[in-house]
Amino acid sequence: MKDSPDFRRRSLVKGVAAASLLPLLGGNLIACTDGRDRQLPGEPQPVGVAATFNHGVASGDPLTDRVILWTRVTPDEPGFVEVEWEIAADEDFSDIVASGSGITDEDVDFTVKVDATGLDAGTSYFYRFRVRDRESPVARTRTAPSGTTATAAFAVVSCSNYPAGYFNVYREVARQPVDAVLHLGDYIYEYAPGGYASANAEALGRVVEPPREILTLADYRSRYAQYRGDPDLQAAHAAHPFIVVWDDHEIANDTWREGAENHDPEGEGEFSERRAAAIQAWYEWLPVRPPSSVAEIIYRRLPYGDLLDLIMLDTRHVGRDQQFVYPDFATGGMIDVAATRAAIGDSNRTLLGAEQLAWLEEQLTGSTARWQVLGQQVLMGRYGLPSPILEALEPSIAGADPLEGGTAAVLAAVAAKNKAPGDRTAEEQALLDSAIPYNLDAWDGYDFERNRVLDFAAQLGSRLVVLAGDTHNAWASQLRNSNGGPVGVEFAAPSVSSPGLEEVLGADAAALFAPLMSILVDDLVYANFLDRGYLTVAFAEDAVTAEWRYVSTIDSTDYTENNAAFQRRVVQRGDLLLS
Ligand SMILES: [Fe+2]
Repeated sequence: MKDSPDFRRRSLVKGVAAASLLPLLGGNLIACTDGRDRQLPGEPQPVGVAATFNHGVASGDPLTDRVILWTRVTPDEPGFVEVEWEIAADEDFSDIVASGSGITDEDVDFTVKVDATGLDAGTSYFYRFRVRDRESPVARTRTAPSGTTATAAFAVVSCSNYPAGYFNVYREVARQPVDAVLHLGDYIYEYAPGGYASANAEALGRVVEPPREILTLADYRSRYAQYRGDPDLQAAHAAHPFIVVWDDHEIANDTWREGAENHDPEGEGEFSERRAAAIQAWYEWLPVRPPSSVAEIIYRRLPYGDLLDLIMLDTRHVGRDQQFVYPDFATGGMIDVAATRAAIGDSNRTLLGAEQLAWLEEQLTGSTARWQVLGQQVLMGRYGLPSPILEALEPSIAGADPLEGGTAAVLAAVAAKNKAPGDRTAEEQALLDSAIPYNLDAWDGYDFERNRVLDFAAQLGSRLVVLAGDTHNAWASQLRNSNGGPVGVEFAAPSVSSPGLEEVLGADAAALFAPLMSILVDDLVYANFLDRGYLTVAFAEDAVTAEWRYVSTIDSTDYTENNAAFQRRVVQRGDLLLS
């Protein structure tokens, strides 16, 4: 096919007509910013070496007229590889709408990225790549709709941890009739073999590569290559375009602007170098549109007609002040509630950073869509628990039996909460009034900025649907401004495979705790602390329907859908109240 005059002509005519047909952008952020292109000078028709497709294909960041296409090739021998691509209206490729070719090499880890343009809005397409006579799998993608749009649906996933179990959740996602998949981060984890969530890795044949905590560009590339060898992840990418943001583990646990909990500059070098390596590999391996200027800026807007504006945020790296942890506020086995509240309410404290916050406010101001959807990492709702519960569960101050202490504290708080306010003793009321965030790494630890965003959105009359990942558990909450008025809802996806609260509490306690937490937290409508799964969110003009679907196991590829755990929640556009 490569030498066919027809194909060559199409490459030159239709391919070049497709503006950024650009050759290959594949993770080659550097080539983009320094103006270098990936064609070799003096070699108009590079041939390159033969190569195979071992890491699947992917697409992403759909706009109304374009979508990113991605693959990665494994060369048979040292050298560069010429890769051809085609995108067609039909699965048989009888109606090719754009095609082209370019080269890739070790500078970009043999990844290939194309921004295929000139496409129709709200349309499904098929694409494939070719190296000499070898073809990639054929995959499906879909552009965003334009103008009047009645419906749109997304699958939402996060926290896919290779050694923790099989990616059965991705297998299920591949089957869903959605417009796109939103991956809210923790696409990879950085740990060494035997690290976090690796207890079954050997038995499952899922010990991580390379066999160390990843620190260098070569390490991060190798980890992505292992994940992308997974057939279930390949199936999800082949079925739908992905819209991806990073969370912390794409670099290291609990990252913030200048460091991470799991980064020790003493033994692991400069954090900025590790971050740059991680970011380069992320752009190379994920079907993300390369940045126009600054690599660290991944916040971006993807409109879905007049129905919704998808506003993807970075609450993790670009602007975040360092997280607080409860030992910061603990003395003598007690958490100082007033000090905690003062710290998280500090008006100088930021999660988004000033630039991103201004950008977000601009997007909200300019959005005329029926729904404003924030695709981001950490929980935005208010998840406060009485301080004795947090004291019982915080390892640095917990007693000998944290579960026993925690259970007693939860039951005392629930008993108080279940009484009418007038029937509570002063002590019971004080207990409930001591509520502070259960997770200081989330928006709860950045209360001032959260109020600013929610009050701003309320003032505009935005209809917010906030999507979150990060916790490994499922949540649905009402979002309210600082006066308690409804601004929208939060739907959080469970993890693909990382362990949830059941790992900390045990399965029985985790099952009991979810409904009790809904009693204690006013805005919390639904939680699941036990199961692995994903979320689908279907938008219509007047309502949004969220559905949580779970798999029976991740310890075997022989699994079923866990129908008993299925959950559906709906929010009406009129009152924004979650039912
Ligand atoms: Fe995670």
